[in-house]
Amino acid sequence: MIRRYSMDGDQFLSKKRCSGSIFASLPLKIRYCTHIKTEARASLFCYSFTMKQALQRKIRVAVLFGGKSAEHEISVRSAQNVVRALDKQRYDVTLVGIDKNGSWNFCEISQLFSDEMKIFCKQSTSSNAISQPFNAGGKFLGGKGSEEIDVVFPVLHGPFGEDGTIQGLLKLAHVPFVGASVLGSAVGMDKDITKRLLRDAGIPLARFLTYKNHERKNITFEKLKQSLGVPFFVKPANLGSSVGITKVHNKQEYSAALELAFLYDTKILIEEYINGKEVECAVLGNEAPIASLCGEITPHHEFYSYEAKYLDENGVALSIPAHIPKRVSKKIQKLAIQVFEVLCCEGMARVDFFVTDSKNIFINEINTIPGFTSISMYPKLWEASGISYAKLIDTLIEFAIKRFHGEQKLQTAFIQK
Ligand SMILES: Nc1ncnc2c1ncn2[C@@H]1O[C@H](COP(=O)(O)OP(=O)(O)O)[C@@H](O)[C@H]1O
Ligand SMILES: [Mg+2]
Repeated sequence: MIRRYSMDGDQFLSKKRCSGSIFASLPLKIRYCTHIKTEARASLFCYSFTMKQALQRKIRVAVLFGGKSAEHEISVRSAQNVVRALDKQRYDVTLVGIDKNGSWNFCEISQLFSDEMKIFCKQSTSSNAISQPFNAGGKFLGGKGSEEIDVVFPVLHGPFGEDGTIQGLLKLAHVPFVGASVLGSAVGMDKDITKRLLRDAGIPLARFLTYKNHERKNITFEKLKQSLGVPFFVKPANLGSSVGITKVHNKQEYSAALELAFLYDTKILIEEYINGKEVECAVLGNEAPIASLCGEITPHHEFYSYEAKYLDENGVALSIPAHIPKRVSKKIQKLAIQVFEVLCCEGMARVDFFVTDSKNIFINEINTIPGFTSISMYPKLWEASGISYAKLIDTLIEFAIKRFHGEQKLQTAFIQK
């Protein structure tokens, strides 16, 4: 059962102010270029502290990881880092692993770091299986012995995790959760919908075409070559970690690329190749999000493929800050916040761009649950911008709780004037 806090968050905030805040300690250049409302941020930082006081105990966090997705293994790696960074003096951590069949199971922290995880990934046989994620009363059964959970941190990548499905479940169960809600997650997961919304907002992106499985017959290599040029990219609309993506140079590669992408999704994108640097920017916040320094990805493969990301130890070089002029990085920071807002995101997201030699900027994609693996840019970008891994996790949890309380105040019944 979810704890009902005895104190109204905002009332309390207006009575008490904290002088110290991680936002206040951010480097000035970040504060100004991203228009942080320091006062509001300082208040927010006090929030979980006061919540902890109100609860008189540690904050109970459920970390959801794994999932029924081709990015399952990446999620396990991300969860290991998030769990490592959660301050155990401050949080009681409950681990809920979702296996590749979609079953939910309680896990011990030691299990998450052991070889058992590889077996668990395929199919869990654990006696700790959770028969249903929430009980008949609609409350999340997140803790062992049905302990109450204060907040959920979904560390899930790809479909059934990053796409609004889990977010909808958690919303129905009345549990605060980290990151974008249903709409932002669903929109950000689908590269086709993402790009249509961004195009509508006038944000520059590569030319692209979208096809559903039943429209396959209408596509030919020649037509694509004519409209997009060669090479071009073929990708599943709803996936990440470069799974199912091919850079196509010729007709033979094209047929295989189509087969591969349609293995993972019923909708695919075919996209113009942008020859440029890959630059990433992290965004953090709810109503007044802030942007981190920009980082650069230099893949040592033809593109930033799954192999380059996760299989080849030397697959990529990361540079923070990115090797781009200051004015370009400022422009990217502004665009990252604009993208975050256009796509209705909350809490966190990483926005990825291409920057050409002539300094034209194109947005590539958004990740509403960015990677937290050892090579992942999201936590690294914040670290370089003055927010440590542990503080980042604290802040994300605070934003989740703050949003939840804001939503609780909304009326659900008609009020006669
Ligand atoms: N239009 C494009 N032009 C150039 N490179 C691209 C393009 N689209 C994708 N890539 C390359 O493929 C990688 C993965 O594509 P992306 O769209 O980011 O998918 P994912 O969500 O799987 O990360 C990118 O990081 C980049 O290296
Ligand atoms: Mg990507």
